[in-house]
Amino acid sequence: MDVPLIFLPVIGTVPAWRKAARGLLARGVPEAVWQVGDAPADLFATETAEPAGKVPALTLSRDAIAEIETALCHADPERFARAYGLLRRLADGLVRWGDRSDPAMLKVLHQAKTVRRAIHKMHAFVRFREVSGEGGRRAFMAWFEPDHPVVEAATPFFAKRFGDMDWAILTPQITARFVSGVLDYQLTAPGTVIPDDATEGLWRTYYANIFNPARLMVDAMTSEMPRKYWKNLPEAELIPGLIRSANARTSVMQAAAPTEASPRLLARAKTMVAEALPEVPTDGLAGLRAAAGGCTRCPLYAPATQVVFGVGPEDAALMIVGEQPGDTEDLTGVPFTGPAGQVFDTEAQAAGLDRGAAYVTNAVKHFKFTPRGKRRIHQRPDAGEVSACRWWLDLERELIRPRLILAMGATALASLTGKGEGILSRRGKVEVATDGTPVFVTVHPSYILRLPDPALQMAERARFRDDLRTVADMLRETAND
Ligand code: URA
Repeated sequence: MDVPLIFLPVIGTVPAWRKAARGLLARGVPEAVWQVGDAPADLFATETAEPAGKVPALTLSRDAIAEIETALCHADPERFARAYGLLRRLADGLVRWGDRSDPAMLKVLHQAKTVRRAIHKMHAFVRFREVSGEGGRRAFMAWFEPDHPVVEAATPFFAKRFGDMDWAILTPQITARFVSGVLDYQLTAPGTVIPDDATEGLWRTYYANIFNPARLMVDAMTSEMPRKYWKNLPEAELIPGLIRSANARTSVMQAAAPTEASPRLLARAKTMVAEALPEVPTDGLAGLRAAAGGCTRCPLYAPATQVVFGVGPEDAALMIVGEQPGDTEDLTGVPFTGPAGQVFDTEAQAAGLDRGAAYVTNAVKHFKFTPRGKRRIHQRPDAGEVSACRWWLDLERELIRPRLILAMGATALASLTGKGEGILSRRGKVEVATDGTPVFVTVHPSYILRLPDPALQMAERARFRDDLRTVADMLRETAND
């Protein structure tokens, strides 16, 4: 018997493998060569062939199937053949599920574990940025390069978390797109790479490609094929609907309420608070950030979209500490990217303080809020939450070892020095953190935003700028110490 060559599609690889493997097994085919990529469509149809000879009976538990299918999301090109070989030997009773003395079984179990780690990494490290799209609806995009082909396995998580907005995650091979509550996948244009410092223009180009299917399809179809041929095309019927749906999507987005954690999730979160402390990650800032992605030290992680960990160089001379992420930061995953961040950025620039050279973080790493209608209203973290999160702040500080810390607001000050009262009288002074690092005290930029009197706001912005200038001066003065 010839060894069949099975082509699997890039999108939907695992279900296609499952279907093909079932067909091969039924026909008693001992082995196959598997390849991901384009092929004539009929090559996917292996499973339709009639079974020849004895059909081995194979009943696998749901866990075993899940484990094999998880391992199929590994990047190893041998995984399909290995998994099929294992299926055959399971069917023939030559090996029992879970028998780790079997090298193929062991490999499948190991690879499933690696894939689960890659999925977790994707959940923790995808960083969305808001794209100022057309039609006023909110849309978010991210670029991510997974170590393994896990996009389809990892992205339903984001659909749950970001259920009330449009988003897309581009990866080198597959783009996951979530529009109006529907998750779908498309091939990423070959050669696409979005650098970390991608320009607004580049993001807008991708935004237009991803979120505007109506316009795109019309453009693409008119360029590929004159309108007169459209009547024969099944997809042409979709075009008016797609165009209309762009508006409908806007209304859906506007009507959507913020997602709230279920009482069950919150209850589970509360019980987990009492659990043992996690081990201290040993592999630098990246390890710390990855570990924080799974933090359950206080209940705030449950309703939040993601952990918002510190960003900046590991050898930063200055560490800037705020209170907690706000609504925008909860979505972007980066501290100080919302309105308070804008005040900070403007005044820091005017004061000659380079934010990019600083390590920017918060005393509390998850957004605390109460939903009100469509909005999520910021809630101040309580002493227990600040204390639970100090574990991370202390570890960040130990790793960065900054020469100076800028504490913005009472929560940061409390976490760093043990006392948060009297911020206005302590402002502009240098205190010391519990480990002896100097701490420059200033107000939080949202304090300035909340001042009702515009004249007062202006005066406070000027004082804030002066504080930042003092910090920039202190850094320069201590540069050679
Ligand atoms: N306020 C903060 O304290 N931190 C942020 O990251 C955003 C707003």
